[in-house]
Amino acid sequence: MTKRVLLIIAGGIAAYKSLDVIRRLREREIGVRCILTNAGSQFVTPLSVASLSGDKVFTELFSLTDEAEMGHIKLSRDADLVVVAPATADLLGKMANGLADDLATTALLATDKPVLIAPAMNPEMWAHPATKRNVEQLMRDGIHVVGPNEGEMACGEIGLGRMAEPDEIVQAICRHLQSSLGPLAGKRAIVTSGPTIEAIDPVRFLSNHSSGKQGHAVAEALHKAGVDVTLVSGPVREPAPNVDKVVEISSAVEMLQACEQALPVDIVVCVAAVADWRPADQQAQKLKKQAGEEPPSIRFVENPDILKTLAGLDSARPQLVIGFAAETENIEQNAERKLQTKGCDWVVANNVSAEQNTFGGVHNEVMLFRRGNRVEAWPKLTKQAVADQLVRRIAEHFDQRRDTDTAP
Ligand code: CTP
Repeated sequence: MTKRVLLIIAGGIAAYKSLDVIRRLREREIGVRCILTNAGSQFVTPLSVASLSGDKVFTELFSLTDEAEMGHIKLSRDADLVVVAPATADLLGKMANGLADDLATTALLATDKPVLIAPAMNPEMWAHPATKRNVEQLMRDGIHVVGPNEGEMACGEIGLGRMAEPDEIVQAICRHLQSSLGPLAGKRAIVTSGPTIEAIDPVRFLSNHSSGKQGHAVAEALHKAGVDVTLVSGPVREPAPNVDKVVEISSAVEMLQACEQALPVDIVVCVAAVADWRPADQQAQKLKKQAGEEPPSIRFVENPDILKTLAGLDSARPQLVIGFAAETENIEQNAERKLQTKGCDWVVANNVSAEQNTFGGVHNEVMLFRRGNRVEAWPKLTKQAVADQLVRRIAEHFDQRRDTDTAP
């Protein structure tokens, strides 16, 4: 069956890119119906939108002809996905507050379909606390966001606020359409991956062997299942996976900050090998060898436990919090203990003793511990296959919840 998108074009200079979005969607045989706001029609003409979409363009809330042909409620429900590109600061503000004073905002309030927005505005407007509040509210309401990107703006300023490129928007649309029926569609997740590095002085650090392969694979598998994924990763050689947002950090403290900034989410998967300790005093200058002196001793302090912090959130605790347990012995006892002490819902335990070649290797052999469920021991699989299997379990979990939530 042909998928259909309702594209709302608001008033921003980036509106010209939306014409390209329409063209690319039509090339993929996706039906596009457009609403052009009053301000939007200052940037692109209804005629060009109509010619590219091959359909009538809707502009007025109180148009007798339009309402007779297609009521605005039906217009908002006929599509599989509603896309707003460009989403201006004004429109985001209206959406976040549930205003409905024209056809676009009314359709957005009346729709029962997923909504994807592609914000576009001046960097100062994007960084303004009011816009931030609105975007956070929209994310809490389950609205999906693509972009904005960093770059030069039409006004000549450089910064974050450029609308995502048509290709990125089309990819995000296709992903939502493909996964629009799955239980994970529209969920949001944070995945941590890689090691953290803890500076001793400007040139030396403490870290571990984590390659980021398993964490990156989990992030990508969730993304494929329709989840909006923020990957928070320590320094790795692994190429960035195809996810919605990658935040690169160095230390455990930075990792926690990045995770907190990505809240609220439905799912957290902590795969990162976080350094448990950091040097208490980070030296501003390189430590020098002094002839005849003892090597320096380093005093450590404990790092924040990211998994435990996110699992212990009072308000907006993610519905499913999953940890990985890296063990070299007594895997089952240690995994059970981590389930309790960290307060998470599931633990994926793996053997990282040297002979397993887990760190940096392609394979992983894991056991899944879930509260109230029997333990599953999976065979040795590629890290990709472990990620796919874990995402299947996550999907089953949300599918069951969906059944329970809708039970009479
Ligand atoms: N973890 C975390 N923050 C930390 C330490 C660990 O988020 N400061 C997370 C890891 O990402 C993983 C889980 O906690 O999901 C278990 O990590 P692991 O290194 O196996 O355990 P530790 O908590 O470090 O305990 P131990 O050193 O006793 O094995």
